[in-house]
Amino acid sequence: EFHEHPRDAHLSSAGLVGKFDRAQLQRGLKVFQEVCAACHSLKYVSFRDFEHLGYSEGQVKALAQAWPIEQPTVNEETGEAATRKNVPSDRVPSPYPNEVAARAANNNALPPDLSLMTKARHDGGNYVYSLLTGYRAQPAALLAKFPDAKTPPGLHYNPYFPNLNLAMPAPLTSDGQVTFDDGTKSTVDQMAKDVAAFLTWTAEPNLESRHAAGVAAIIFLVIFVFLTWGAYQNVWRNVK
Ligand code: HEM
Repeated sequence: EFHEHPRDAHLSSAGLVGKFDRAQLQRGLKVFQEVCAACHSLKYVSFRDFEHLGYSEGQVKALAQAWPIEQPTVNEETGEAATRKNVPSDRVPSPYPNEVAARAANNNALPPDLSLMTKARHDGGNYVYSLLTGYRAQPAALLAKFPDAKTPPGLHYNPYFPNLNLAMPAPLTSDGQVTFDDGTKSTVDQMAKDVAAFLTWTAEPNLESRHAAGVAAIIFLVIFVFLTWGAYQNVWRNVK
């Protein structure tokens, strides 16, 4: 009863004929780059995929080069682990070399890869939006009913997270945390919506062609209904 269903982020990609809002995806990428990338990877997304968000080849190259997390590699001479700058064919890297290091840096929790997160969770786009804007103090009613459910140290209360307490501290905490290039005001709410839109795209970059195929199929079926009805009339025209 204290777990809440996601609130509607009104993403333009929602619904049967929804399309992505390119400007919003670009803003979401910036939020991801400046905030989320510090802990999360996008292992199914290559930098060159960002060309689909409206960037040129050169811009993608620059973006990969400037990415805050470098690509893990091996020093050819010593065989030791090292990092190098990203190139467009690289996947968006995790900041941690392995799970042990990731957990060590996060109070034993593991920041999941976010490529498919909006598919992995029910109502994913809205879920990410709600989760990011859902941090609050634990309600007194909950503590009165379940005193043992008090948020343990190192965890954070969030009614959108299935077990109510999660290891991720609120990543978006102040308006203006990210500066948007298109002049959109970067309130926490806006940043949360934009990164939710972006993660909807990473999980299903071909959503628009799927929606278009659906529309074409419906149009075809409507025409087909009239054709079959006409054929039926024709076949039975002499029968009383
Ligand atoms: C988990 C999104 C930034 C650390 C998650 C989850 C999502 C998410 C969707 C999964 C929740 C679930 O399992 O249902 C984001 C977004 C970020 C962001 C969109 C940027 C706006 C960060 C940062 C850190 C971090 C900066 C590190 C300081 C974690 C950890 C978990 C997690 C440790 C696992 C939580 C648990 O299982 O208790 N994040 N995150 N995240 N994130 Fe983030």
